[in-house]
Amino acid sequence: MAILSLYPLPGIVYTHDGSATLVSEGNVLYSYEEERLSRFQHAISEFPEKAAVVGFQQTGIHPTQVESLVVTSIENCLARPDFASRVQFAKDLLLLRDDIDVTCVPHHMAHSALAVLTSPFDECVFLTMDGGGDYLMGHWGVFREKAFHVVEEFKLSPAHFFTYLMKLAGFSNFEEGKLMGLSAFGKIDPSLLGWLRDHFWIQDGSAAVAISPKLRLKWLSSFHLDAIDAGSLRRAKYAPRDVDFTGPPVIDWASRVSPVDIAATGQHFFELLVLRAVKNIRDRTGIEQFALGGGAFLNVLINEKLRREANISTYIPVAPHDAGLSLGAALLKSHESTGQRPHCETSAYLGPKFDRGSVTSLLAAHGLRYEEPKDIATSVAHALADGKVVGFFHGKAEFGARALGARSVLADPRLESSKFRVNQALKKRDWFMPYAPAILEEHGNEFFEGFVPTPYMNMAFRVRPEKAHLIPAAIHVDGTCRAQSVNEIQNPLFYRLISRFAKITGVPMVLNTSFNRHGVPIVATPRQAIEHLLEGSVDLLAIEGYLVFPLIGTREIATLADDTANRAWDHVKWVARLLEGEKIDAARQYLKRIELPIKVSQKGISLLTEIIWVPGEPLDKLKSNLFRYMDGRQTPKIANGPSSVLRKWRNWRRR
Ligand SMILES: [Fe+2]
Repeated sequence: MAILSLYPLPGIVYTHDGSATLVSEGNVLYSYEEERLSRFQHAISEFPEKAAVVGFQQTGIHPTQVESLVVTSIENCLARPDFASRVQFAKDLLLLRDDIDVTCVPHHMAHSALAVLTSPFDECVFLTMDGGGDYLMGHWGVFREKAFHVVEEFKLSPAHFFTYLMKLAGFSNFEEGKLMGLSAFGKIDPSLLGWLRDHFWIQDGSAAVAISPKLRLKWLSSFHLDAIDAGSLRRAKYAPRDVDFTGPPVIDWASRVSPVDIAATGQHFFELLVLRAVKNIRDRTGIEQFALGGGAFLNVLINEKLRREANISTYIPVAPHDAGLSLGAALLKSHESTGQRPHCETSAYLGPKFDRGSVTSLLAAHGLRYEEPKDIATSVAHALADGKVVGFFHGKAEFGARALGARSVLADPRLESSKFRVNQALKKRDWFMPYAPAILEEHGNEFFEGFVPTPYMNMAFRVRPEKAHLIPAAIHVDGTCRAQSVNEIQNPLFYRLISRFAKITGVPMVLNTSFNRHGVPIVATPRQAIEHLLEGSVDLLAIEGYLVFPLIGTREIATLADDTANRAWDHVKWVARLLEGEKIDAARQYLKRIELPIKVSQKGISLLTEIIWVPGEPLDKLKSNLFRYMDGRQTPKIANGPSSVLRKWRNWRRR
């Protein structure tokens, strides 16, 4: 039986990360996100029409051969009067048969089905936590004897508090990952943590979040469907908070605590809530195997904490967030029809692939110089070891939020400058966001404490201190590393590439980031990959066995000093903000952690011996004064400065 699964239905404006899946006779043939094809990040409010059409083309399944249409619900869409007309619209758009069987799977069941049915567990707890779907933010239950038994549904989940704190720290929609990345730089603020603990907690024996009766929830957008439209979700930057709290105990935390400390406190509080919920379920059921779904489990730090601190075995699928809904719902339907588990637990490579003929014609059309090496893996390994940044495009595209070696940009993890170059030319990421490596699975334990295979890059590990100096570009400031483990079965070509790199350098891993420029989805087509090469975002492009060279010589795309200056600016800006609020002690505390050779006093900010800014002056002046020194155009006045300060300054310049 051919199953087409879609999320969402057409004309629903408050969805994101839609996708389409095709399953035939219990085999997952195809699953892909709409954003990759529409080129609009998160595919907000988009029906996965393109993803479905490309699926037909890739699998050879004709729309009229589809016998079962599966849709995942959002905001109880089955109960809405327009459900039938939306289904009809989908059928018309995709030329599906009129008499097709239609199934609507509840949002959280689709999350759970993906987690359970691709897990190695015969019996387990399933638990979802997300920002909302079907007016719920999660559920949990037990999977036993091939049946799902839901025990509890809840309206508020820890995921939502993470989003609340993300907005408090000044981030926009879909930037939960940034809050997590920034958390490594801050410290837990006792007053904010105390307030959070006093007002939000996990109910006894439950996974639901309870709120203090003194507080009132103020929904500002996604839960007031009348108040939201596609436009308001699309304004990703500086969006108002989705949710806020009112009542006498509410404090304006954003003006009292720096964003880094909000992030550190928020990550810690989120972990406390999730750990409590999981322990409650474990104690209640006695089951120690957990299949986890929902956007909350994109958080690699909690995934690692759960494994280490909750005494449970966890499984997190390839796409725990909403992108995985169409796959989960299709698997549930297939499982109910055949009673069989799918055969997709080891593969994330479910997207489209391109034949070599179409690639060579494109290369010729662009007048690009290329060669066909005997072994592309060996050629790329040598290029990486020579310090090149390589776009890598081979085979079926990955499904899910992470690039896993099919649409990746690769670099040498041994050079700290790799991440600056990738950042400058391609990603334009915030200074605090780390880069991740892909490591040969059999070497995981050598480099990481408590390593377990992570083919979907969904766990952070602590790097063994004795190995840290080997891979400076792949380590976050807190000493952790979000690694993808690669074995020969999952991706033979990528495995061979990393093996060759290990042979040349002695380091069995490469830096692996997604193949996309800042703000756009991962590349979907060879043409988009070529555009990146033409724009100088990568030094070389390896595509379907060809090594492609840029039209002009590689330009010098970034320097260490550029990045150091930008990082310094971000820190000093916050110091200035604290100083404007007359929080001198807080500014001094902050400075202690960042180790910049600057001082603050009531008068302003001094760099070494020179005052570079006084409160009331525009921040632009601070920036230009700082950059004057940081980029080396002007030597600081050091004659009167103590040598320890000078040393500190030189170290900073070198970082
Ligand atoms: Fe969801």
